[in-house]
Amino acid sequence: MFQYKSLEELKQKIAAQNLSIPFGNEAVLRETATVGGKTIPNRIAIQPMEGCDGTADGKPDELTLRRYDKFAASGAGLIWEEATAVWEEGRANPRQLWIREENLDAFRAMNDRIREISMQKHGFAPIIIMQATHSGRYSKPQGVPAPLIAYNNPLFEKDAPIASDRIVTDDYLHRLTERMGEAARLAEKAGFDGVDIKSCHRYLGSELLSAYQRPGDFGGSFENRTRFLRESIMAAKASVGSGFLVTSRLNIYDGFPWPYGFGVSPDGGLTPDLSEPVKLVGILHKQLGIDLLDITIGNPYVNPHVNRPADWQPYPLPEDPLTGVARMLDCIRTVQTAYPDLTVIGSGVSYLRQFAGKMAAGAIENGYYKIAGFGRMAFAYPTFAEDILSGKGMDAGQCCISCGKCSQLMRLGSKAGCVVRDRVYTDLYREAVRNAKP
Ligand SMILES: Cc1cc2nc3c(=O)[nH]c(=O)nc-3n(C[C@H](O)[C@H](O)[C@H](O)COP(=O)(O)O)c2cc1C
Repeated sequence: MFQYKSLEELKQKIAAQNLSIPFGNEAVLRETATVGGKTIPNRIAIQPMEGCDGTADGKPDELTLRRYDKFAASGAGLIWEEATAVWEEGRANPRQLWIREENLDAFRAMNDRIREISMQKHGFAPIIIMQATHSGRYSKPQGVPAPLIAYNNPLFEKDAPIASDRIVTDDYLHRLTERMGEAARLAEKAGFDGVDIKSCHRYLGSELLSAYQRPGDFGGSFENRTRFLRESIMAAKASVGSGFLVTSRLNIYDGFPWPYGFGVSPDGGLTPDLSEPVKLVGILHKQLGIDLLDITIGNPYVNPHVNRPADWQPYPLPEDPLTGVARMLDCIRTVQTAYPDLTVIGSGVSYLRQFAGKMAAGAIENGYYKIAGFGRMAFAYPTFAEDILSGKGMDAGQCCISCGKCSQLMRLGSKAGCVVRDRVYTDLYREAVRNAKP
């Protein structure tokens, strides 16, 4: 369990395990960063954190606005808004946000409000990104699973293979590529600063990267497996003005053995082999002109210890969560080192609680990445950024304790937030557990 009373004690545990997790001076997080002609006011980003609380037709609702009001007040320089479906059938739940012409005013109002709150409180407006998604095998637009997959994966499906008519066709993917371009155009109209062609956590765009055995335009070779991401980025760039950021939240290591994982050694096992991800990032950066990437690893459903290190997982812990933090850092550093001009955002810091700001600073000082992205911490302790940036320091009593209940709320079909620190979600959690089927 995370019971470190001092940074010294934590450092000793890290050293005893021969792990590499750097710590530094939080002042570095106050520095601005420039990307694609835009200035990010500091080095703290709020990662996409889905609340599953939009309206049935995909607009931000009361709890969505409450969450983004808090994120706006946090002082973070970059707010990467949560997964936003581009098609109804690709929604992960019936309340997932959905970008479409009818919803633009609602998104624009929310973004204006974020800028206004941050401007009033901190004197700057954060950069705001929209995460455009198709949930693929995790699609549940009516609240029951309605998977649309890139290929059958026996590791996930076990003895209940998904029917072959749920494997999306090449024609479907070509149309989805065009839709990603359209989503980028809509995001620009809705007042976002940029769009993320989501390619992480094994949603559809991410799953395609490991479609080694899929025939046709989107499977087999590296070129085919990366086609969806590359062509979606090109479609997005063609649909927006030159000042609008086109980016991706990209999985560079899935943590599943070949041929079911991207960024793993083809020799079997789970050892990362980042040669393909590094090649892909090179193409995105050098050929397609992508200057900002949000890098992550793992899958939140099957191997969450890889994706979001925690003391609690829905299975016996296979490793010390510090090993997961170090793996995440090491993978991200490989990309940042390969392309020093690229602005890389790191993930997976919340496990370190009150020491997370110092770790983020160490990662930046040591070239692991340029911007630190905080996920669960933003749910639990929305003023964390202000406390770090003001020099006050993080308050252990407000930090995320990585209990996993925010994810559990999602799995129970409820609205997600911090069950431990936010009364609204304590009540929702009680209700969801009470109503859960045995
Ligand atoms: C409740 C919940 C919702 C999330 N929603 C999204 C999402 O919409 N898009 C995304 O890319 N990642 C999402 N994530 C993953 C986080 O952005 C982040 O990568 C993860 O929590 C690890 O970072 P952390 O250690 O700072 O929490 C979500 C995670 C949780 C727990």
